[in-house]
Amino acid sequence: MTELSTRIAGIGSYLPERILTNDEISAMVDTSDSWIRERTGIRQRHIAGEGITTCDLAERAARRALEDAGLEADDLDLIVVATTTPDFTFPSVGTMLQARLGAMKGAAFDVQAVCTGFVYALAMADNMLARGQAKTALVVGAETMSRILDWTDRSTCVLFGDGAGAMVLQAADTGEGAERSGILGTYLRSDGRFKDLLHVDGGPSSTGTVGHLRMVGNQVFRHAITNISESMTTIAKRSGVSIEDIDWFVPHQANQRILEGVARKLSIPTEKVISTVADHGNTSAASVPLAFDRAVQDGRIKRGDLVLMEALGGGFTWGAALARF
Ligand code: ACO
Repeated sequence: MTELSTRIAGIGSYLPERILTNDEISAMVDTSDSWIRERTGIRQRHIAGEGITTCDLAERAARRALEDAGLEADDLDLIVVATTTPDFTFPSVGTMLQARLGAMKGAAFDVQAVCTGFVYALAMADNMLARGQAKTALVVGAETMSRILDWTDRSTCVLFGDGAGAMVLQAADTGEGAERSGILGTYLRSDGRFKDLLHVDGGPSSTGTVGHLRMVGNQVFRHAITNISESMTTIAKRSGVSIEDIDWFVPHQANQRILEGVARKLSIPTEKVISTVADHGNTSAASVPLAFDRAVQDGRIKRGDLVLMEALGGGFTWGAALARF
C-alpha cells in the first residue's frame, strides 16, 4: 500500500546583522563575559534593528529555504510559523508571510509553543501532509525575543537573541518496501502546571501590554534535562531506532550546559550534538532550524543522515522530531 511521507526538500535561516556581545551587555547590567560563557556557553546574540520585525526575519529564512528546495512560493499550499513574538496580536505572521511571498494557495497560521514551537509546527505540517491536506509546506521558526526582554534583568537578558529558520516539506509517496525518509516521527508533550517558572508577565487580555519574559532559570534547567532526555528516548523507541543509530542531534539552543547534560545522560558523544548557542544565544522557536541549517551548510549533516531534533520551552512544552534527511 502506498503511504505518504514528508520529505525535507530545503532549509534556510537568517540572523539579523547587529551583534550584541557579552561585553556590551556587561555595560548595561551587572554581569560579565566570563559568567555568561561559563554558565551558558553564549558568546554573542543577534538583535533585530529598529523597525525589523519577526515577519521580516521569517521572510529572509523562508526565501532561502525555498531557494534551497528549488521551489517557488507558488508551490506552497501550507505555511506554519512558530513564534512567540509576532508582529501583531493578529493577523498571524503566517498569513503576513503568505502575502509577502505571494503564496496564494492553501492555508497559513501561527503556532505558539515558545521554544518548542518549531517541533510543534513541524508536527502540524507533517500530519497535514501525511493526510493529504497539503502537498508542499513551509515551516518557519522566527523570533524577536529582544522585544520581550527586561533589559534590566541580568538573569534573562543575557540569554536570548533574534533570528529565523525555515524548512520546506513535501509529501512524497513511499513505495512498498522502500526505506522511509523525511520525517519519521514526532512526539509532543506539555504540562501547564509550571507556568510560573517560565512566562511573560503581560498579554492582550490580562494587562493589555506585551509584557516581559520571566524565568526561574535553575528550575527550568532541571526540567529541561529530564524532559528532553525522555522525549529523545521515547521518539527513538517509537521509531524503532536506538540512540546510537542517530547520526546527529539538533537540540534547542538554550544553554551549552543543557546540551552537554542531556548528552551525558544518554551517553551521546558531544561531536554528534550540533551546538550554535555560542553565536546566537536562545532564539526560541528559531533555534532548531538555525542549528540544523548551519550543520547542513558546513557539511556535517548530509542527505540520508538520521537526525533528531528536540526542544523544551515555556508552558512547559517539549518534544522531539526524528528525520531521515
Ligand atoms: N550575571 C552574573 N550573575 C548572574 C546572572 C548574570 N547574568 N544571572 C544570574 N546571576 C546570579 C544569580 O543572581 C545567582 O546569584 P546568587 O547565588 O548570589 O543568588 C547566581 O548567579 C546563580 O544563579 P542561578 O540561576 O542558580 O544560575 P544557573 O547556574 O542556574 O544559570 C541560567 C542560570 C543560565 C539561566 C540557567 O539556569 C539556564 O540556562 N536555565 C535554563 C534556561 C532554559 O533552558 N530555557 C529554555 C526555555 S526558554 C523559553 O522557552 C523561552
